[in-house]
Amino acid sequence: MYQGVIFDLDGVICTTDEFHYLAWKALADKEGIPFDRETNNLLRGVSRMASLEIILRKASRSYTDEEKAALAAYKNDLYRDYLKQITPSDLDPDVLRTLQTLKDKGVRIAIGSSSKNTKTILRNLGIIEQFDAIADGNDIQRSKPDPEVFLVAANKLGLEPASCVVVEDAFAGIEAAKRGGFAAAAIGDAVKDPEADYVLSVLSDILPVALSA
Ligand code: BG6
Ligand code: MG
Repeated sequence: MYQGVIFDLDGVICTTDEFHYLAWKALADKEGIPFDRETNNLLRGVSRMASLEIILRKASRSYTDEEKAALAAYKNDLYRDYLKQITPSDLDPDVLRTLQTLKDKGVRIAIGSSSKNTKTILRNLGIIEQFDAIADGNDIQRSKPDPEVFLVAANKLGLEPASCVVVEDAFAGIEAAKRGGFAAAAIGDAVKDPEADYVLSVLSDILPVALSA
């Protein structure tokens, strides 16, 4: 049994990973930079500016720091427009059941996300009050694969990393969890990562992992 479960947000609690993709794709198309799903998978868990740097590797010219800042703001504006559509009806019932079951069983739950838009998303989904702790892109200096966001989350929960399991859809997130001393459960794209301790098809597959004696 784990005392805490730390969930990544985008691609784990909700499908906002698709909105990230659509916003980056629009930016790449505007700039004439090749961008596909494979490159998009490299951006999972990675901060906004680090994601932009990965996209610009395929650009045919270099960009100044001012241009990069403008591009990141352009992407974030597009992304935040998508976030306006989110309502509680977008929450997968399996996700809600998972969170409620963990809480009922006394397992503490947290968010550990690189996103600075975390609280907007949780508010729009109507679940911000469900979490015992939230650690996000505003709390950290270094994004995944650095373990900082998960260490902040565990600290806010008052738990040691070894007593928590992290749920992640990103290779960078699995690496961050392992480097921080957490168990790592993979869902979505991360199920291909051999470093994961557990593989989940749906989020509620974390229940037997977290609750078994
Ligand atoms: C992570 C996403 O959750 O947050 C990344 O997986 C994203 O793709 C990162 O770049 C930062 O998000 P935001 O909302 O602060 O731009
Ligand atoms: Mg994610």
